[in-house]
Amino acid sequence: MDINGAVALIAGGGGGFGAATARRLHQAGARVVICDLDEAKGSAIVEELGEGSVFVRTDVLDEDSVQAAITVAEGLGPLRIAVVAHGGPGGGRTLNRENEPVAQGDFMKVINIFLGATYNIARLAAAAMAKTEPLRDGERGVIINTASIAAFDGTIGQAAYAAAKGGIVGMTLPLARDLAPVGIRVITIAPGTFLTPAYGDVDPEQLDAYWGKAVQFPKRMGRADEYALLAEQIAQNVYLNGETIRIDGALRFTPKGA
Ligand SMILES: NC(=O)c1ccc[n+]([C@@H]2O[C@H](COP(=O)([O-])OP(=O)(O)OC[C@H]3O[C@@H](n4cnc5c(N)ncnc54)[C@H](O)[C@@H]3O)[C@@H](O)[C@H]2O)c1
Repeated sequence: MDINGAVALIAGGGGGFGAATARRLHQAGARVVICDLDEAKGSAIVEELGEGSVFVRTDVLDEDSVQAAITVAEGLGPLRIAVVAHGGPGGGRTLNRENEPVAQGDFMKVINIFLGATYNIARLAAAAMAKTEPLRDGERGVIINTASIAAFDGTIGQAAYAAAKGGIVGMTLPLARDLAPVGIRVITIAPGTFLTPAYGDVDPEQLDAYWGKAVQFPKRMGRADEYALLAEQIAQNVYLNGETIRIDGALRFTPKGA
């Protein structure tokens, strides 16, 4: 797909992966719609990018809020790219130190925000893409989801997160099959450990040293722009479809992660 002139909607656009992807797609000529719950983060990236970028305060857990953002995107031109890269809570161990079970509601929160919201964005974005004129090969759009390597080798305390991310991996092919008749591709990125604000207020050098040693090569955490580069390449390459791509420097989590 030619990114130049396309409209891209980025859920979690104020975050590490989202902002890096917005920068790349904008640089390649797309108009970008930054969807984020965090007004300060979302506005900051729009201020940085300037013309051709817009922030829409969006709660991915709210169907109407997501639809409103998609309507803004449609107003800018043909929606061609939807990147799902919002964050959420991580969950916890199944039993605590006293062997009491974690609340079922905590599990469902993680499932809802990562898996439920990803599906909601996919179905609503696909409906908007389906209305556009087809490009070469009959292509209308591409949906890029974000899983995690935890989908395959989840660590202690990651049952909910791994289930949600595993669900995203599992629905990638059936979504691609559902949307093939209208020329919409679906690809999932499964990142390893990337240096983003998701890790909170930890010194980046310490973080990099801790996680980096478990990575085969290169011996460091990933950079958000490396995720963004993959997202850009996925958008460009029409033959990528129905697949989950790990980007992790050959990292495989141990039970404790690194
Ligand atoms: N950073 C990593 O190492 C890593 C690894 C594997 C997978 N991931 C996944 O990548 C995605 C993005 O991660 P990141 O590292 O960029 O995180 P991040 O914390 O830097 O960004 C997440 C963004 O999502 C926004 N957000 C949170 N809840 C929202 C809601 N309800 N509605 C709209 N926006 C909301 C936040 O405000 C934030 O700007 C997540 O799905 C995460 O699980 C990250």
